[in-house]
Amino acid sequence: MKFFLDTANLKDIKKYAAWGIIDGVTTNPTLVAREGVDFETRIKEIGEVIDGPISAEVTEGSAEEMIAQGKEIAKWHKNIFVKVPMTEDGLKTVKALSAEGIRTNVTLVFSVTQAVMAAKAGATFVSPFVGRVDDISYDGIELIADIVGIFRTYGFDTEVLSASIRHPKHVVDSMRVGADIATIPPNLFDKMVKHPLTTSGLASFAADWKKFQAEQQ
Ligand code: G3P
Repeated sequence: MKFFLDTANLKDIKKYAAWGIIDGVTTNPTLVAREGVDFETRIKEIGEVIDGPISAEVTEGSAEEMIAQGKEIAKWHKNIFVKVPMTEDGLKTVKALSAEGIRTNVTLVFSVTQAVMAAKAGATFVSPFVGRVDDISYDGIELIADIVGIFRTYGFDTEVLSASIRHPKHVVDSMRVGADIATIPPNLFDKMVKHPLTTSGLASFAADWKKFQAEQQ
């Protein structure tokens, strides 16, 4: 199971990379805009910190434009995965980019049919949006489970990247149903690392040790 960081914030990327748990980074236009930095510069900076897949999304509309932009983005760093929206033009873009050996991450996936079409077009990753499916009263994890099962049944190489993760249970459930990757917002790692029994256990070890040391005096 791979953990990606879903952010373009360099400080956060450095912080969690130091924990030894980050296998890659995903960004999207919203996350890059939030940082108020130059897109290309930031992607290259991320590439200096993380040795793993970095998703950078196209922002143009037509297949011709997305193909041209995708080819440019792919030159920015050896670990780039060009993120492409799940549209008709997006499928054409994935087909063209994958024919040139450029890896892709098809984003904004909300159904099994979209995921299968993206895989058939040659996507390296598909990104179903778990939280946004839950937001409209459907089951995001069930979508991940369906896609994983169908990809395994038919032998697709495309990896399932669980996206729009909102809480630690989404991470656990994504692993339980066999997602290859979860892309996780930075603040969730702080929740995932903590447990009240770890905190109280550590406090009691420290107190017992202090008492024992005092008794030795
Ligand atoms: O990975 C996609 C993600 O960035 C979307 O998350 O929380 O905006 O649905 P969210």
